[in-house]
Amino acid sequence: MSKPKVFISREIFPEAIEMVRKVADTDLWPEETPAPRDVLLSKVSGVDGLLCLLTDKIDSELMEIAGPRLKVISQIAVGYENIDVKAATKRGIPVGYTPGVLTHATADFTFTLMLAAGRRLIDGTNFVKAGKWRTWHPLHFLGKEIYGSTLGLIGLGRIGLEVAKRATGFQMNILYHDIVRRRDLEEQYSLTYVDRDTILKQSDFLSLHVNLNPETYHLISEKEFSIMKSTAVLVNAARGPVIDPNALYWALKNGEIAAAGLDVTEPEPIPDDDPLLTLDNCIIAPHIASASIEARQEMSRIAAQNLVNGLQGEKLVECVNPEVYAKT
Ligand code: DGY
Repeated sequence: MSKPKVFISREIFPEAIEMVRKVADTDLWPEETPAPRDVLLSKVSGVDGLLCLLTDKIDSELMEIAGPRLKVISQIAVGYENIDVKAATKRGIPVGYTPGVLTHATADFTFTLMLAAGRRLIDGTNFVKAGKWRTWHPLHFLGKEIYGSTLGLIGLGRIGLEVAKRATGFQMNILYHDIVRRRDLEEQYSLTYVDRDTILKQSDFLSLHVNLNPETYHLISEKEFSIMKSTAVLVNAARGPVIDPNALYWALKNGEIAAAGLDVTEPEPIPDDDPLLTLDNCIIAPHIASASIEARQEMSRIAAQNLVNGLQGEKLVECVNPEVYAKT
């Protein structure tokens, strides 16, 4: 019997590719950048399984072109706003994702951004590398101390909570706002639930941990910046479009807030001529919060396992739309 056919849209850890190769004829996109849309569509035509990334648009057109053999879509990420999950569910196709295993990496990186943006690490490093360091100066590169300051978390899911746990080590005063109040966690982690205006008004460090959806699109824009402290540091390791980039530029340029640490941008990758790139008080990483070796290895393994399970008609280990199983 011939093996099922799969397309893997980018290199992942080799052990994970091996897991897939054992059970399927595997076509792997070898380039560093995503396959152009027309190539992606031709690659998925007639496949039984697809392992994809958040840079691939997986919509109903693609599923239509893939055809009736498509049994599983496995995304190597916890976010999946690039996938039309409704369309997959309608076709009875389970969609896999990789939650949990990148929580610590992302929480660690959120702190990396808070510390680096707050204490002007990149700005200072660039100063040294440009050969401008001539003396120790009491007023050079002053930044915001993290110890004992107020942290505002917008979104208290898995990652938000891990950031809160780390913040207790810095004796931070932790505020949070979410659509669901987590009374069960408040006492244990010394969390204070506040409304949106209060979190904006009181946070020294404001960190975003929400999904991207129509409600969170440009959640932080002109009005929000006008409420924030002029000394505040804004951190985003969630999704770029949660912040309005034009309003952010204005706020950073005009001292409405002190600094920003971004792992994600709108759009991605950020264009070379984006004005945010001209600002010393804005640090920008290329969407690498989950890029610890441990997290990416586990993400690769779970994505491969989801794909294999889907091909073999078994339940996915991590499934976005488990309702597909209820239908059968
Ligand atoms: C995700 O998993 O959604 C991250 O943004 C990339 O790891």
